[in-house]
Amino acid sequence: MCGIVGYIGKKPANKILVDGLKRLEYRGYDSAGIVTLDENGEVKINKVKGKVAQLDDEIAEQADKNSIGIGHTRWATHGEPSVANAHPHKAGEIFLVHNGIIENYKELKAELADHKFVSDTDTEVLAALINSFYDEKTSLFDAVRLALKKVVGTFGIAVVSTREPNEIITARLGSPLIIGLGDNENILASDASALFGLTDKAIYLNDGEMAKITREDVKIYDLNGSEIVGKIEKIDTNLAAIQKNGYAHFLLKEIMEQPETLNATLRGRIDAMKKTVKLGGLNLSEKDLKNVQHVVIVGCGTAYYAGLLASYYLAELLPDVTIEVVVASEFRYKKSFLPKNSVALIVSQSGETADTLACLREIKSRGAKTIGVVNAVGSTIAREVDGGIYVHAGPEISVASTKAFTSQVSAMIMLGVSMAQTRETAEDFVEKIVAELAILPDEIKKLLNKYVAEIEKIATKYAKYEHAIYMGRDTAFPTALEGALKLKEISYIDANGYAAGELKHGPLALVDDRFFEVVMLLEGNLLDKTISNLSEVNARGGHVFAITNSDKEITAESILRVKTDLKILTPILLNVAQQVFAYYIAVARENDVDQPRNLAKSVTVE
Ligand code: G6P
Repeated sequence: MCGIVGYIGKKPANKILVDGLKRLEYRGYDSAGIVTLDENGEVKINKVKGKVAQLDDEIAEQADKNSIGIGHTRWATHGEPSVANAHPHKAGEIFLVHNGIIENYKELKAELADHKFVSDTDTEVLAALINSFYDEKTSLFDAVRLALKKVVGTFGIAVVSTREPNEIITARLGSPLIIGLGDNENILASDASALFGLTDKAIYLNDGEMAKITREDVKIYDLNGSEIVGKIEKIDTNLAAIQKNGYAHFLLKEIMEQPETLNATLRGRIDAMKKTVKLGGLNLSEKDLKNVQHVVIVGCGTAYYAGLLASYYLAELLPDVTIEVVVASEFRYKKSFLPKNSVALIVSQSGETADTLACLREIKSRGAKTIGVVNAVGSTIAREVDGGIYVHAGPEISVASTKAFTSQVSAMIMLGVSMAQTRETAEDFVEKIVAELAILPDEIKKLLNKYVAEIEKIATKYAKYEHAIYMGRDTAFPTALEGALKLKEISYIDANGYAAGELKHGPLALVDDRFFEVVMLLEGNLLDKTISNLSEVNARGGHVFAITNSDKEITAESILRVKTDLKILTPILLNVAQQVFAYYIAVARENDVDQPRNLAKSVTVE
């Protein structure tokens, strides 16, 4: 989703802004722009509809040495993707870039008759509003502050002015901002990855905070203008983690690195010898863990499906606890009872998803304990939860989530194990599942070493279809939902997941030559019943791709038989096969695999 970069220092700002925007490309966007100023207020502005690479070409031809600037990648909310709607937006002497949504922009616009609007965006309304306060007696800082008091909605903003060209004003409410501290230069971004390689010291702005950034200084204020002390934190600046390392796409790199990223999730937490799990950051006492009566898991997209899959294991581990999994965007609006002693698992790769964050705040206000299952260190959700398990999967750049899913499910299982140990429940299952978690990274490695070429071959056969049905029973059901989501995200094939037993209640009517079907058949897990469901599809002329760990006779158009020592965690392993399958279909269809159309990585609007 939208990205912000700002720079103030001694170097040419345009290059630093464009490089920073490139590192934010993974969030998904449809247009981009930068504005730079010199110390006398001379301005250079570049905007494009499309890719940041075009901005790069434009600035290469300009000898612009301006050393202050702000830049933006836009993911359209109000108004189509176009140069006119791309940020920065101008009003009088000021330029503004904005992430988030100004909900009362129509009312505000009606009061701003003096401004001639040139875009359809809510951001230009905010620029005009700030400008309306920016008279001779008012500083840029105060004009921004006064304008923000009238705004309903969410924002992360950066503002510069030709009248005060030696500062950047920034403010945050609901949309992340981080200020990297350098030596006589400072850099602002909506995501720490834009700072990689530049500095490892940063201040995360909290909601309701503003900052005045000059070359030498960063001062933090609340929205009333009172100065507050910003906390300087060390950030991880591992540049290698955000490079493709020779892979054609980030998605493939992220699929292939799962043995290592999952090891990072498990490291120091499971003891394979003693078959135990230890989690450091839960902030829950033994008594708290013993008293839990209800676990609610919330997330969006892949994070939601990770929760759904984990819930099957949690139910085995915690037979005396009720488990509920809810899509974050629905949880807040459905009147549901949150029993006493509830614990909520807030699952999010980015830690910034607006619906999930709103859910977290709602759940906290209702008195339940919240545990983050988050990948992005320092993200808003990670900072606001009561305790958490960082999944440590490293930066996930491709919009479609892969390695985060594997690590999220495993992290939630570890939490379940740790609760089961405290409560002394499901002792046999605890032992088995910990042993399987310990070998899961190696099993994934074996799958990736042995089966990728075979999966690619199968994928090329199915790339021509426009419709797909994924099906599975029990733990293979949420895995089917995730498989279908991956396929639709990156291939644009209309793919839907079903509980295999549900096919006869509707989806079977769809089966014809326009469709193919992906069926997951798990040894020891309702295998015969799923084989019956598969036969029902075969009997209607289905084009079935079966994925299985069984040696049993199975009839299907294509079969991938995966040899594995896993028995309980097979769905997590076979989901990796689904990821590879979706990847090669998207490649065969020549799609933009890492940045699928219309989608964003960090969805900071509700
Ligand atoms: C977007 C991404 C998905 C992701 C979902 C939740 O829709 O495209 O890949 O699963 O957001 O994101 P989160 O960062 O909260 O896990």
